[in-house]
Amino acid sequence: MLLGLSLLMFFTCRCVSSDEDLSRALKLMSETPLIDGHNDLPWQMRIQFNNQLNKVDLNTLENMHTNIPKIKTGRLGAQFWSAYVPCETQYKDAVRQTLEQIDVIHRMCQKYPDVFMFAKSSRDIKDAFARNKTASLIGVEGGHSIDSSLGTLRTMYQLGVRYLTLTHSCNTPWADNWLVDTGSEPSEHNGLSPFGKQVIAEMNRMGMLIDLSHVTVRVMHQVLDMSKAPVIFSHSSAFAVCPHKRNVPDEVLKRVNETGGIVMINFYNDYVTCSQTATVANVADHFDHIRKVAGAGIIGFGGDYDGVERVPEGLEDVSKVPNLVAELLRRGWSDQEVKAALGDNLLRVFQKVEEIAESLRKLSPDDVPIPYDEVKNPCRTSTGYSRGGISPSPLSLAALLITLALQKLI
Ligand SMILES: *[C@@H]1O[C@H](CO)[C@@H](O)[C@H](O)[C@H]1NC(C)=O
Ligand SMILES: *[C@@H]1O[C@H](CO)[C@@H](O)[C@H](O)[C@H]1NC(C)=O
Ligand SMILES: [Zn+2]
Repeated sequence: MLLGLSLLMFFTCRCVSSDEDLSRALKLMSETPLIDGHNDLPWQMRIQFNNQLNKVDLNTLENMHTNIPKIKTGRLGAQFWSAYVPCETQYKDAVRQTLEQIDVIHRMCQKYPDVFMFAKSSRDIKDAFARNKTASLIGVEGGHSIDSSLGTLRTMYQLGVRYLTLTHSCNTPWADNWLVDTGSEPSEHNGLSPFGKQVIAEMNRMGMLIDLSHVTVRVMHQVLDMSKAPVIFSHSSAFAVCPHKRNVPDEVLKRVNETGGIVMINFYNDYVTCSQTATVANVADHFDHIRKVAGAGIIGFGGDYDGVERVPEGLEDVSKVPNLVAELLRRGWSDQEVKAALGDNLLRVFQKVEEIAESLRKLSPDDVPIPYDEVKNPCRTSTGYSRGGISPSPLSLAALLITLALQKLI
């Protein structure tokens, strides 16, 4: 009778994670860094303070998902801070604004050296964790930020950028974005253009992570076909659980497993439940689904904090992530699976990307520019295209002749 009662209580209590689950979660998080793929705090710095970090105290900052006390409570071991600038800057000042976002991330690390450690490698992430600091990496969100220029891409790598999301929510002159899959925008490249493939090869050569969040399914497959290194999804969830086109379909999840990549799960309610409300349990359903379809070896955390308006009950800000870890433990995840998702998987992917770059170090940087007429930008000048080895394409010659004829010059 007594046993029956306590068994009943035991099973009743297992419906929500217990204090024991939470302390086990915190213990695992003290052994393996929680590495999050995407946080938009730098974007909040721009829109709320025009990047005047001197006017901000991240210790006391309110009304945001992220501040220093929340980071400490949430045991955030490493963060890819997003250097995001909106699609409306494409063909205008995207490169300048991106450089300013990179700058604000560097300045944040300089202003709080006891909290953040700027990081550029898998080794740096481990070193920061050993020093009880949040490793701070940079991801550029959207190919429009490089203005179709491999030189700009390489310079951003030099500034510490370690992933590029190939598109945000607009096509670039070389890659289609996810909105194409919704039917609301036309495909311009049937995936990646030849220049888009040059971008992928150059990222492999340098050791920059290729982020497939925000691209079409066709681009996902093309990159999985050609990339020498594993890929990441920095902030995307499972399409089979919530059929939103920003999420990852099962057949792609399987290929990510076959190629050793990672899907860092997004907490945005709209991608979690395809509705405006969600709970920790709904997010854990994505973790369970991806584990079932492709294994715990491809899972990571990609909260999208401070980039979205609605986050789940129980995951209100970065301090709450241990609740999700406890929920996975309650659902029977092993310590090893939880550690894989926390940080081991991302470290494995990053190390592999670094190894591939090392193996390619004898390759020369790709200096073949995008064909001039593939960038439909009236502000872009053609310096260097007319002479210096690159002859204009037959198409642009024809266009020139037509223009001259219209002007009655020939
Ligand atoms: C790490 O930092 C936290 C918060 O500042 C502190 O409570 C904890 O004692 C530190 N741990 C170590 C091992 O230094
Ligand atoms: C993931 O890939 C590994 C290695 O290729 C394979 O052994 C494993 O069965 C795969 N997991 C799932 C769930 O498909
Ligand atoms: Zn995004």
